[in-house]
Amino acid sequence: MDFITWATSPWGQTVPIHIAWYLIWVMVIAGLLFMIVHALYVGIFAAKKTFAKNDSPAVVAAIPERVPRHSFVARAFHWVMALSMFALLITAFLPKVGVKFDWVTYHWIAGLVLTASVLFHIFHASFFLDFWSIWPDKIDLRDARRRLLRSIGKEAPPPDRFAKYPLENKFYHFVILLSGLGVIATGVFMMKRVNTFGIFTRNPYLFGDMTWGMMYVLHGLAGVGLIALIMVHVYFGVRPEKLPITKSMIFGYMSRDFYLEEHDPQRWAVEKTSPPKEGYAPSDAD
Ligand code: HEM
Repeated sequence: MDFITWATSPWGQTVPIHIAWYLIWVMVIAGLLFMIVHALYVGIFAAKKTFAKNDSPAVVAAIPERVPRHSFVARAFHWVMALSMFALLITAFLPKVGVKFDWVTYHWIAGLVLTASVLFHIFHASFFLDFWSIWPDKIDLRDARRRLLRSIGKEAPPPDRFAKYPLENKFYHFVILLSGLGVIATGVFMMKRVNTFGIFTRNPYLFGDMTWGMMYVLHGLAGVGLIALIMVHVYFGVRPEKLPITKSMIFGYMSRDFYLEEHDPQRWAVEKTSPPKEGYAPSDAD
């Protein structure tokens, strides 16, 4: 079974034209299998999470009831990106599984929104956020080993609590970064093949058939990869133990109890911003 669909060019050359669309179902099934196996593992086998904790009373007393986690700008970026991502997945793949509609214009408009929001995010994260907070550090790697050993019943000291992001979230961010940049880099060139009402001058001869074909294949591979990645992301977002994190992406804050339970004040210090006076109550994030 070939994962690429091939065609013969006017010059008799065999060239790739896009991925084989059965990969859509492979990714949907992979995403579903991941969720089922994970839910069974957590429900039946996994031990309760334990962390090493020794916060002094002074440290605990200094933590506000609402711990700021995502600024308004960071949350706005996340939801704009999420909306454009869903629009891209729907417009790309529904026509391939039989729901026919004129998808191309909606698709590239959503593509430009995603591209602009990702460029903004790179700028914002580099100059206004803590750039290194999303990359694994030495303690993450040490604790991954400890957690693995403990999960299979071996002796190991309890891991520290997380910094701002758990290692799994950092790993997810890296994979989505690669696939996101993959669809963006190829998608921007593919704009030269379609009618973009003058935003891009059309030039289907920019590359040869082989290069265009590889570009469509790369776009498709990164695109189908995003099906499983987004499914898994939404699954974790609605899991009960992750709800405080999801709510913080809506309201911007997490409760002191959750923060002290899963995050280490020494690894992720509370930012000195004033919490909102009304609206979101700390208990909402429990
Ligand atoms: C979640 C992200 C994305 C997914 C899942 C996705 C998926 C797809 C798929 C499956 C196709 C059909 C390709 C083919 O026929 O081989 C396509 C075409 C296309 N995509 Fe995307 N894409 C995404 C992001 C983007 C972005 C960010 C842009 C622009 C910046 C973009 C622009 C285009 C264009 C211009 C086409 C060509 C349409 C044509 O030649 O008929 N896409 N996309």
